[in-house]
Amino acid sequence: MQQVTLDTKRSLLRFLTCGSVDDGKSTLIGRLLYDAQLIFEDQLRGITIESQRKLGDEAALDLSLLVDGLQAEREQGITIDVAYRFFSTAKRRFIVADTPGHEQYTRNMATGASTADLAVLLVDARKGLLVQTHRHSCIASLLGIRHVVLAVNKMDLVGYDEKVFRTIEAQYREFAKQLNFTSITAIPMSALLGDNVFKHSNNMSWYQGLTFMTFLEDVDVGDTKIDGPFRMPVQWVNRPHQDFRGFSGTVVGGSVRVGDSVSIQPTGTTAVVQQIVQFDVSPDVAKKGDAVTIVLDREVDVSRGNVICSVAHPTSNVERFEAHLLWMTELPVQPGRQFLCKLGTVTVPAVITRITSKIDVNTFTQIPTDRLEMNEIGVVVVQLETKVAHDIYDNNRDMGGFILIDRTTNDTLAAGMILRDVVQVQNITWHHMDIDKSARANLKGQKPAVLWLTGLSGSGKSTIANLIERALWSEGKHTYILDGDNIRHGLSSDLGFKAEDRIENIRRVSEVSRLMTDAGMLIIVSLISPYQSERERARRTIGDEFIEVYIDTPLEECERRDPKGLYKRARAGEIRGMTGVDSPYEPPTLPEIHVKTMENTPEKSAMLIVAWLRSNGFLQNH
Ligand code: ADX
Repeated sequence: MQQVTLDTKRSLLRFLTCGSVDDGKSTLIGRLLYDAQLIFEDQLRGITIESQRKLGDEAALDLSLLVDGLQAEREQGITIDVAYRFFSTAKRRFIVADTPGHEQYTRNMATGASTADLAVLLVDARKGLLVQTHRHSCIASLLGIRHVVLAVNKMDLVGYDEKVFRTIEAQYREFAKQLNFTSITAIPMSALLGDNVFKHSNNMSWYQGLTFMTFLEDVDVGDTKIDGPFRMPVQWVNRPHQDFRGFSGTVVGGSVRVGDSVSIQPTGTTAVVQQIVQFDVSPDVAKKGDAVTIVLDREVDVSRGNVICSVAHPTSNVERFEAHLLWMTELPVQPGRQFLCKLGTVTVPAVITRITSKIDVNTFTQIPTDRLEMNEIGVVVVQLETKVAHDIYDNNRDMGGFILIDRTTNDTLAAGMILRDVVQVQNITWHHMDIDKSARANLKGQKPAVLWLTGLSGSGKSTIANLIERALWSEGKHTYILDGDNIRHGLSSDLGFKAEDRIENIRRVSEVSRLMTDAGMLIIVSLISPYQSERERARRTIGDEFIEVYIDTPLEECERRDPKGLYKRARAGEIRGMTGVDSPYEPPTLPEIHVKTMENTPEKSAMLIVAWLRSNGFLQNH
């Protein structure tokens, strides 16, 4: 295999191939190298003999053996899961992450994707898009890959039919709308026969685009954003003798000059760069990708794991952050589990304090959950035991990516990408006032409660809430309605209807309800609140005063009523993520009150709820 030379004129493209075992990943790379004549002679001879043995055909050449040969090597106990293979053409240098396609595939793919600029997604033209294709696309997108080649392979087996290709391409483009890709290039090919891999295919004259190789050579993946402010994690403190003390590492973001002020994180001390050493020269500047030793102008406490960074834009050092987590282990994970977290060059004890949701890889929407199964991607909160310098993954992949390691076996269990810091409530205590909740409630002659009305849009929640309030008001009770639509005009005007927005909306309404019960009020919440897990969270926040009321109206009836015309618009495709249409509603399993609106008028429903309050002691005068 040709080695990459230190040729800085030809740009470097890092890519990875994704696909299931039989999609032809190995054949594609093998074909590419073979046609581009990038294989050493002796290696080729070995393969010819092996192919003939395997296929029993003198002329046959099984190119997958080129790549699979490496896999066999790995399986003989070599621990790296991903092999990086190098080749180059006159135009460009390439590193392809070769990820074996066995059951650990997702894990390997994630490792490969974390450094790649481009992903090649292989699709078998006969099978079309699979859940795997969606999963790999999600992972690639979350890991920061912005360019995708949709390699529609095995076109020979579908008679080189343009329609097959166009259908797959259109389906993929539709699916990928939800992902964060800047370019998607679909290429019809046969890796086995070489169509459109290195040479244009005569069998697909309808395809006017670039061949796979020409595309790889020409594609521009330049992304200045990932350059960002200066970052250099310290790998070791270099102290060859008394008179020299430097900090060695690789610059993973931005650049630094002699004379620049820098900040050392997580301690926050500052210093000025006095000298930059690279091999035996002292350049003025160190840029992203350079391995250098930095000498500072003063004695500062710097150790391995610290990050030397820009003073104007230092890293964060908050111990708690929200992250996307790819769970790669058979045993599912739930909150409370402890790990070692490797972030950059440091490894510290950590715990997952919360699992909020998982991503549906087919729709890229979030589904609330509190556990993650193997190969699922979730949104979690991680709490580190100590401060570690880090960034948001989208701003810097090296500084925002982490892995979770089992504390006893040392196995890698998950890969994560930091989404945002969760600033902790620090040094804050709850003040107990002299006038407390019961004093406030007593003055009003009532017992606080939260009637939490959940149900589909159009189920009658607001109508019933209004009637309940009128009944309570006429009895002299102090009430307030927290209505979904109204809350979304102010308190939640920044939120939409994605799962994470709804989760936040429900959280805010729970917190406001809690404060209002503390004020001694009787609260009526009217909120779709479609997720069981989030209503349970609200119950935990509010406590015994939480009364779940299921306003049970069948979807067909809600659609028939359609008071705001939303269902009609959702069915016409004008609104996405409408509850009950293309966004889930999870009915309560054990609500305190279950009201079937098909069997009762709104007045009767409201009366039943008020009667429940009365018989459960909420309306006695106190
Ligand atoms: S929740 O899911 O976050 O609990 P909420 O009750 O606040 O929802 O808001 C629901 C109201 O928003 C509905 O009554 C409806 O008028 C409006 N709405 C607009 N778009 C949607 C949608 N995609 N899904 C559900 N309701 C929607």
